[in-house]
Amino acid sequence: MATDDRPSVAKADTEDAVDAVDAAETTASGEDAVQASDTAASGDATTAGTGAPEFMVRAENVHKNFGRLEVLKGIDLTVRPGEVMCVIGPSGSGKSTFLRCINHLEKLNGGRLWVNGHLVGYRQKGDRLYEMREREVAAQRRDIGMVFQRFNLFPHMTALGNVMEAPVQVKGLPKARVRERAVALLERVGLADKMDAYPGQLSGGQQQRVAIARALAMEPALMLFDEPTSALDPELVGEVLEVMKQLALDGMTMIVVTHEIGFAREVGDSLVFMDGGVVVEQGRPRDVIENPQHPRTQDFLSKVL
Ligand SMILES: Nc1ncnc2c1ncn2[C@@H]1O[C@H](COP(=O)(O)OP(=O)(O)O)[C@@H](O)[C@H]1O
Ligand SMILES: [Mg+2]
Repeated sequence: MATDDRPSVAKADTEDAVDAVDAAETTASGEDAVQASDTAASGDATTAGTGAPEFMVRAENVHKNFGRLEVLKGIDLTVRPGEVMCVIGPSGSGKSTFLRCINHLEKLNGGRLWVNGHLVGYRQKGDRLYEMREREVAAQRRDIGMVFQRFNLFPHMTALGNVMEAPVQVKGLPKARVRERAVALLERVGLADKMDAYPGQLSGGQQQRVAIARALAMEPALMLFDEPTSALDPELVGEVLEVMKQLALDGMTMIVVTHEIGFAREVGDSLVFMDGGVVVEQGRPRDVIENPQHPRTQDFLSKVL
């Protein structure tokens, strides 16, 4: 039942009502509903304007399937503001899908996700969840910066143009101000001398640093990295990790899917090992890496270390 796009019950309201049960199918919904409204209340802080939420990301029993393929089988995770969470795991374990759920590029089939105090993709009224319209989802997504394995820069724009594009087009900010910030961001990622270069004139490492600057230009509250160095020649990996480390030291909240165990150990506050759509093990990076408890974690680490 969770996969159905059932007809709206609340047509009169012009909104698609979704049963709260639908999202929380697997757990007792009484407790869920209380927690949900708690968080939603504090998350409506755009009006209240007080205090940061306790968790930047909170995933509760997140389920995702593609047709009959169950990819996420109940993920429970929390990330505190300023925390760097690294995620490791074999290919196909659901890491990218989980990041895409956080960003609401994928719809959940069960469970709930909050980002920065807001329930992702839904508004809650009383006991019911209402699916957000695409426009609202897009607005929510602006809180989140995403950096992929492939940099996806606009090839016909300079580095500076790439970094300026979204704040000008999406946020409609004045160009002069955006340019000033974009210059500062490119300096921050070590590309002061490459402002006017086109992606084709940059190395993979430089392009990825532009991509990071571009994500930061939207002033996100959270940054998601999906194997940001996997497509790079080995000698270019370090410069990208260094930029990410600086970002972490500056206090950015980050979730980093990576095979760079050294980075996870040095920069991560927490390390999550995923396999087969579940979190098999998590803890302080050093503990997980040096003393993995689960045989699957041990097996995986023995292959990558
Ligand atoms: N859009 C999609 N449609 C169907 N199957 C998908 C889709 N995206 C991912 N999958 C499948 O979901 C599983 C998890 O994929 P993914 O999240 O990319 O894993 P990871 O990032 O850990 O390698 C894989 O079996 C993959 O083939
Ligand atoms: Mg992936």
